[in-house]
Amino acid sequence: MRLATLRNEPDSAQPSAAQPFAFKLSNVTVAYRSYQERPSSLKETVIRFMRTGKMKHYSTFDALNDVSLEINKGTVLGIIGSNGSGKSTLLKVMAQVLKPTQGRVVVNGSVSSLIELGVGFDPELNAVENIFLNGSLHKKSNADIKSRVDHILEFAELHDFARTPIKYFSSGMAARLGFAVAIDINPDILIVDEILAVGDERFQAKCSTVFQNFLKSGKTIIIVSHDMSMLEHTAREIVLLSRGKIVFRGDPHHAIGMYRDKSYETALQG
Ligand SMILES: Nc1ncnc2c1ncn2[C@@H]1O[C@H](COP(=O)(O)OP(=O)(O)OP(=O)(O)O)[C@@H](O)[C@H]1O
Ligand SMILES: [Mg+2]
Repeated sequence: MRLATLRNEPDSAQPSAAQPFAFKLSNVTVAYRSYQERPSSLKETVIRFMRTGKMKHYSTFDALNDVSLEINKGTVLGIIGSNGSGKSTLLKVMAQVLKPTQGRVVVNGSVSSLIELGVGFDPELNAVENIFLNGSLHKKSNADIKSRVDHILEFAELHDFARTPIKYFSSGMAARLGFAVAIDINPDILIVDEILAVGDERFQAKCSTVFQNFLKSGKTIIIVSHDMSMLEHTAREIVLLSRGKIVFRGDPHHAIGMYRDKSYETALQG
């Protein structure tokens, strides 16, 4: 896993502070290539071409299929769904690290995202060096970063490992550093994919306090998780994804109930 902390400046031409939404996704489709077995010889390639008239050995499928979603500012939105349903793809589109094949994404505010462990970090560098690296990626001055290093290490509880190359960090330690760096940017919108699940209970409690403070200041959190009890306590509403489509959006208790009894999958098949 890699961990991303990205900051997207508000798109001043489109939304403004007066507008109530954090994200507006309109008819977003993300198509990926799905590879079939590669022909092992020229002869096979020729036979395949003669049979199908095609040289390519892949087809495309939609990881997100015509998704429209408006998310208000100041909310905690949970995203759930089975493995491969498109949750991380949706977060990547929101964080603008992935351009949709079709559709439009409007973001209203600065975004900090923890989508994959390691993005924005160099495994060979130690924690402090990585804090500098990440700060410079966000165009912060050295003096500015220097003044934040202690605070970041303290939040992540990694003072004792400040000079350890992060390739030796456990996944929980890497997630703590990533989270500490991401929230230090003080974004309007925080996007988190599963990563906090690898933190221990104490760290998770700390994150939950951060979330509460975030919300009090009118900020927005989008969180993907398989931890239903955490989401039931944290999320104001939940989006349930199935095969790249939103099958439900609304009350967390209802969404989790649907997800658990899988009734939506049979409904989709039928
Ligand atoms: N870069 C890629 N190239 C091709 N297919 C991809 C790529 N990234 C994701 N996919 C496919 O897109 C679909 C959705 O993937 P995604 O990672 O969004 O699922 P997810 O809901 O986050 O799953 P999980 O719960 O396992 O994290 C999957 O079928 C996956 O194999
Ligand atoms: Mg995922």
